[in-house]
Amino acid sequence: QMHDAETRPPPPPDADGVWQGLRPVAELTQADAPIPAGADACLVVQGGVLRWVGPRAQLPAAFGALPHFDAQGALATPGLIDCHTHLVYGGQRANEFALRLAGAGYEELARAGGGIAASVRATRAASEDALFALAAARLQALLAEGVCAIEIKSGYGLALEHERKQLRVARRLGQALGVTVRTSFLGAHALPPEYAGRRQDYTDHVCQHMLPTLAAEGLVDAVDVFCERIAFTLAQTGQVFRAAQALGLRVKLHAEQLSDMGGAALAARHGALSCDHLEHLSAEGIAAMQAAGSVAVLLPGAYYTLRDTQPPPIEALRAAGVPMAVSTDHNPGTSPALSLLLMANMACTLFGLTVPEALAGITTQAARALGLQDSHGLIASGRPANFVLWPLAEAAELVYWYGHKPACTIVRQGRVARD
Ligand code: NIG
Ligand code: FE
Repeated sequence: QMHDAETRPPPPPDADGVWQGLRPVAELTQADAPIPAGADACLVVQGGVLRWVGPRAQLPAAFGALPHFDAQGALATPGLIDCHTHLVYGGQRANEFALRLAGAGYEELARAGGGIAASVRATRAASEDALFALAAARLQALLAEGVCAIEIKSGYGLALEHERKQLRVARRLGQALGVTVRTSFLGAHALPPEYAGRRQDYTDHVCQHMLPTLAAEGLVDAVDVFCERIAFTLAQTGQVFRAAQALGLRVKLHAEQLSDMGGAALAARHGALSCDHLEHLSAEGIAAMQAAGSVAVLLPGAYYTLRDTQPPPIEALRAAGVPMAVSTDHNPGTSPALSLLLMANMACTLFGLTVPEALAGITTQAARALGLQDSHGLIASGRPANFVLWPLAEAAELVYWYGHKPACTIVRQGRVARD
């Protein structure tokens, strides 16, 4: 079934026309002419690209002949962006969920050969097509809620052929489902069994062999590392970052999730696109991120699943003006979540974000975390047509309701989504 999606020729960009009778969320829109409160606004799509955004009363005559679609007063947001996921993997880890409920700790399970290593075994055992089918089903769930761009990491292969398999699946997903995919190489996620007791040798292998090879194959958009007591040291993280920069690749980091390793400050010094998790982030880390313009990616699903009690320092991040994004961190261990809107809700209830911060966190700021700020995350002319129409009275409802799939009309890459 998923193979049909891959071989079928893409349909024409059928969203072309004037979408009228809508209310774009002001903070997420850059109009071509000011839209007075309560005005009937429209979006013009031509060739799959947004050509004009403004009040219907000022629609340029040149667009008058295009087909018109009536949005019936719907709220319009940019397509949502999930900027941190581990979407491609084999198996699942419900057993560890049960063990943690019985008192086991995440780090303890990892040290006992479970955790990431368990997902590595299942991912290595799965074929590329099997991984594609599993991940496509997960991606469909995210797309149905309005996601138009997604980051997908490797990191459950930990050997060249298996990391390649994961990244190839990520690229195929983007093509088959018509969604923007940014890949991150996360070879430094955990130590594979072949390198037991040889963490430095594995780090060298990642830097000298795996990363350059996969980058040369065009499979790597950015480079990530898990810097943690149970993963890679600060020095090894720096080594991977230097290898990335030598290839002209931007970096990001799983930083200060379980302890303060000083990873965020290091990543910021390497011009990181983002530092993610951040429950144990220090004042130094915040200052460095602010100076570098790195985005703080908040992952309330992992915090919730691990029943963590220390939230990230939101107040201090806000005071420093560090941009904050929100993502699912979808993965089989710490965040088996497939709703970005639920994460926005949890970022408010668990972390204390405001509604506008949460909405920016899954749109404009998430785009920045992926280096896509010039093309995604904002309703503005000149960008690919990625927007969602919601039959809601106010934007806060996007974050307020949870536990259902909201009704919406999705335009993704210039096409009306029918999936
Ligand atoms: O983002 N922290 C490291 N990586 C994942 C979890 C990976 C796993 O447990 O499989 C995360 O939480
Ligand atoms: Fe993660």
